[in-house]
Amino acid sequence: TGHKGHISVVLLGATGDLAKKYLWQGFFQLYVNEVSKGHSFSFHGAALTPPEKALHLDIQNSLAEEGLHEAGRLFYLSVPPFAYADIARNINASCRPLPGAWLRVVLEKPFGQDYESAQKLAGELQTYFEEEEIYRVDHYLGKQAVEQILPFRLQNRKHLEPIWNRHHVERVEIVMKETLDVKGRISFYEEYGVIRDVIQNHLTEILTSIAMEVPLNLSCSDDVLRAKLSLLDSLQKLEQDSVVSGQYQDYLTQATEELEKKTNYFTNTQTFAAVLVHIDNIRWEGVPFLLMSGKALDERTAYVRVVFKDNAFCVQKEDGRDSTSNTCKPKQIIFHIGHGDIDFPAILVSRGLFKPYVTPSRWQQASELPSHNVFGQDLSDYYVYRPLLERDAYSVLISNIYRGKKESFVTTKNLLASWSFWTPLLEGLEQETPRVYPGGAENSQLLDFMIEDGGLRFVTDENLEVLTVAQK
Ligand code: BG6
Repeated sequence: TGHKGHISVVLLGATGDLAKKYLWQGFFQLYVNEVSKGHSFSFHGAALTPPEKALHLDIQNSLAEEGLHEAGRLFYLSVPPFAYADIARNINASCRPLPGAWLRVVLEKPFGQDYESAQKLAGELQTYFEEEEIYRVDHYLGKQAVEQILPFRLQNRKHLEPIWNRHHVERVEIVMKETLDVKGRISFYEEYGVIRDVIQNHLTEILTSIAMEVPLNLSCSDDVLRAKLSLLDSLQKLEQDSVVSGQYQDYLTQATEELEKKTNYFTNTQTFAAVLVHIDNIRWEGVPFLLMSGKALDERTAYVRVVFKDNAFCVQKEDGRDSTSNTCKPKQIIFHIGHGDIDFPAILVSRGLFKPYVTPSRWQQASELPSHNVFGQDLSDYYVYRPLLERDAYSVLISNIYRGKKESFVTTKNLLASWSFWTPLLEGLEQETPRVYPGGAENSQLLDFMIEDGGLRFVTDENLEVLTVAQK
């Protein structure tokens, strides 16, 4: 095989949910794509026991027997974080590849609960691995619509650069709504809550892709990661009124049952939060970035919406617009991300903004649209783009690990920058009681909020008393 090498993949937690649902499938895709290029692979699954010397010898011997040259070893740790340190020690002590071959160790969140715990965990990993060997997964970075934000901004910079700023952007909404509640996962959720579970990681990653400066060379991981870090560092410190939070009504009962607590158990874990973020740089000064997520809500959706100021672009005659009327619809760009099994990656650009360019080999203008209108928008107002081939986040990420594309993963510095932004707010929230809301579509306007005096507040306070009393 000459310089084409052999890659050993070890999946720890090989029988877990994530592995069954996505990881094996992703590795299979990798195999199918790469084996035809002359690379060879072996896959090893482990559950419960960390890999020890045996595995090392096994890999070494089989390589020697078959006369293969080793290219690298990939360890995917799909295990709870308490197991990281032991496994990391073992990999470092007994499972390093032959000189010249790479080692990549992949980790799943949670990466700590606050700045301090994240730093401790990162410190442990750093005693065994180099930064370039560590791949922290945020599966949202593998979602096609998220992955496409930077290339889209780069390719359309001629049109976007003049308007991608505080003069023309009214606000940015980053939304991830879920319909399921957290029944069955309460012991995890009690420790985390919605901000730690999805806002500190998934929504913050999306925020950085939207707001960071775009390097000209997106294939240079260091440039991308540096630009991200610089954006994270320029997030304005959050005040206590930057957030509104909620808890779905059944949460308390579920928690009491699952944790086997007495009936007067109290918990102020947030299952819904909306956070108003500002960025202290001249591009974004004063522009509200709204991050919102919750469980047991009325719909399952995830998207980013960049809303442009009214009438900023009503100069030219545009298709689909009534040239006799002088009102023009607010212009927006939507990255529709989708969710788990019902992903519907798409990019929508208001007609009249500009006709975007997308990489034609990977994305194309959608000629047919699904019958269900997932956006609640009149799609004829938009240029709509969809990926040619839909791929799930994990198969995208597994291929990026293999290719060493570090910009699709979370580095230690960027992780800590994000935690240092979120930690003070989380500490403050420990004293706050979230607003109780009934799950599902019922009365979901209870969670409607608005920006007032630079902070957020719920729109009405009416039914609140009633609900809180009912819950007690
Ligand atoms: C996970 C969270 O990271 O993302 C879950 O821990 C959440 O609480 C999930 O449900 C959502 O992922 P997706 O891909 O279904 O949007």
